[in-house]
Amino acid sequence: MSEIKRKLRKKEHIKYSMLLEKNLKRNAFDDIKILHNCLSEININDIDLSTNLQSIKLTSPIIINAMTGGIKEGRTINRELAKIAKKLGLAMAVGSQTIALKNPNSIASFQITREINPDGIIFANLSADSTLKEANQAIEMINADALQIHLNVPQEVMMKEGRKNFTGIVDNIAEIVDNINIPVIVKEVGFGIAKEEAIILAKNGVKIIDIGGSGGTNFIAIENARSKSKAFRHLQDWGIPTPISLIEVIDAVGDKVDTISSGGLKNGLDAAKSLALGAKATAFAGYFLYILLKKGPSALEKYILQIEKEIKYVMAMVGTKNFEELQQRPVIIQGKTYHWAKYREIN
Ligand code: FNR
Repeated sequence: MSEIKRKLRKKEHIKYSMLLEKNLKRNAFDDIKILHNCLSEININDIDLSTNLQSIKLTSPIIINAMTGGIKEGRTINRELAKIAKKLGLAMAVGSQTIALKNPNSIASFQITREINPDGIIFANLSADSTLKEANQAIEMINADALQIHLNVPQEVMMKEGRKNFTGIVDNIAEIVDNINIPVIVKEVGFGIAKEEAIILAKNGVKIIDIGGSGGTNFIAIENARSKSKAFRHLQDWGIPTPISLIEVIDAVGDKVDTISSGGLKNGLDAAKSLALGAKATAFAGYFLYILLKKGPSALEKYILQIEKEIKYVMAMVGTKNFEELQQRPVIIQGKTYHWAKYREIN
């Protein structure tokens, strides 16, 4: 694909994801309830929001997920996100760095995150067909603390210019995991991960999975909008809703793998429910970008502080002072999510 086409695609992803974000309504987290505790004895000052992803220590469970880089707008967005990440002590990921591996002029739009936040936690990002050499280059480019490898078959098959051959992906992931010396996060981009594939990833050495479930950014809808065609509109409902994917992955590999909940997360309650279900952290992409672009960086900063407060308030109402305790509290699963879990024999 040409450089110009790649850049145009990146711009269009931002444009159409923002148009779609505005109209998002459904929230599968409505099926999840954490049991209220009327005898909570919490002192809210004792609540600890710290967590960890393997060797990476996080002071907040909120991660700014991979979005952009490689274009002028991407540089500005990465700069603003990095400032917020630094101020609030959040981990953040850059968007796919493939563009910068092909054209060194794009490197600065990714490196800006490290310049702004020299001591922060920053994740590199590449697709699952990248070589080990490319993985090392992407990591070195931003002195990354972890590498995200994204899985996006639905997006690629829908894109006219997208990849159509995915053979060898599992072996490739295994090779990268075996040969780099920082944690690897395998992530979906909005269609979720099922327990069968979580087991394969765990067997191949993956220790952090970001489930990237459906319910938020929808790349099939984005590609439909980009192509100005309604031909594949009936595929727009594809994917595993986020809470369901979370339940699947934690049931299958929760003892071996740290799970990040993401895909359509919007508020502190979604995050708290994810953490109660066993997620180690929560990641936000489209909704954060929407606030940043529509209302500006200080509105996003305020919103993230509100999410943290909301998580704390939920923990106070449940009577738990850290995430280990929160995970012991009963969670009630209702509606479609209950039926899915029952059908899949997940308790
Ligand atoms: C993304 N996402 C993404 N993921 C990735 O691994 N590499 C990338 O380059 C991008 N690019 C990208 C651009 C834009 C504009 C958006 C909104 C998203 C996917 C993102 O990290 C996340 O997995 C999904 O968006 C699902 O989370 P949300 O958006 O529903 O919170």
